Amino acid sequence: MESHLEKQNGDVLQKSFKEMISTLPRKSCWGLPEDQYQYQSFWFSPPFLQGALSAQQQFQAQPTDIILCSFPRTGTAWLKSLTFATITRTSYNDSTTPLLSKMPHDVVPYMEFDHAQISINRHLGIPLLATHLPYSFLPRSIIDSGCKLIYICRDPKDTFVSLYHFIARHCNSRNTQPIQLDEAFELFYEGISSYGPYWDHVLGYWKASLERPDKLMFLKYEDLVEDTVLYLKKTAEFMGYPFSSEEQQQGVPENIVKMCSFDNLSGLEVNKTGRHREGKGNMETENNIFFRKGKVGDWKNYLTTEMAQRLDQRTLQQLSSSGLSL
Ligand code: A3P
Repeated sequence: MESHLEKQNGDVLQKSFKEMISTLPRKSCWGLPEDQYQYQSFWFSPPFLQGALSAQQQFQAQPTDIILCSFPRTGTAWLKSLTFATITRTSYNDSTTPLLSKMPHDVVPYMEFDHAQISINRHLGIPLLATHLPYSFLPRSIIDSGCKLIYICRDPKDTFVSLYHFIARHCNSRNTQPIQLDEAFELFYEGISSYGPYWDHVLGYWKASLERPDKLMFLKYEDLVEDTVLYLKKTAEFMGYPFSSEEQQQGVPENIVKMCSFDNLSGLEVNKTGRHREGKGNMETENNIFFRKGKVGDWKNYLTTEMAQRLDQRTLQQLSSSGLSL
């Protein structure tokens, strides 16, 4: 229970945060109820920026932590479920895993949304934590502790289409008008979306993965779709939870992949009808909007040839000489 002093401190912090963001560039965009604010060249919704700043001050990473990092709509929930099922495989079986009754975002908390820097908001037996923060925003203790990070990214065209539908469904569920796809496209292209610009987000992690490959694993959604078992095995090894040859003979990795497949997870009752962050105002969401199609190349159904070419061109320019292609 919050003490009087804690409440007073919280009020002071809230006031100074409001004063601080009132000085930042802001934009009303994507039909979202709150403006986006630009801070150190990235765009944020106020609660996430506040959570980020608080995490930078308070979060104490442990060397055993594994931080799942991503830009929104690039495969975070899938990565959460695969890593969670891998790490907990000796504690739970197919019929007892919490993934059957909780949606992936509820089994691995977010550093900047769930205030996971406060240990009561974390399951300390499970070393996983997620963040959408750009690499340059990570709390210092994450780098200093030597804990491991896994980053997942995705073709910008599919990322944009997925993000557009997510926000449009979010607006519809609140009876507010979503913006048109071409309007959202221009914003994404200019880098204006929560945690954007997308390319800068990806590049920050890409460069860090080249410098510290033993600490930062860089994954692509498309590779994971192409050969999920192979990449799951690599991820398990990287995390320090490798599958033994006996487990491989028993088909344990294949079982995890099946359990975490789009068809299986999206068909579970909790993911069809449950609600995420219930009672948390604008943050409350229906679980089913986190699952859409789970396909590579769905952009072809939404973007004109010209839009796709422009976004590809932008990606080529932004990633030029990085050695990365998306
Ligand atoms: P689409 O909108 O293209 O279908 P995030 O979890 O980062 O928000 O990413 C969401 C994207 O991952 C959505 O893409 C969603 O459908 C897809 N997704 C969710 N669960 C998945 C799973 N188990 N396997 C593959 N893709 C999944």
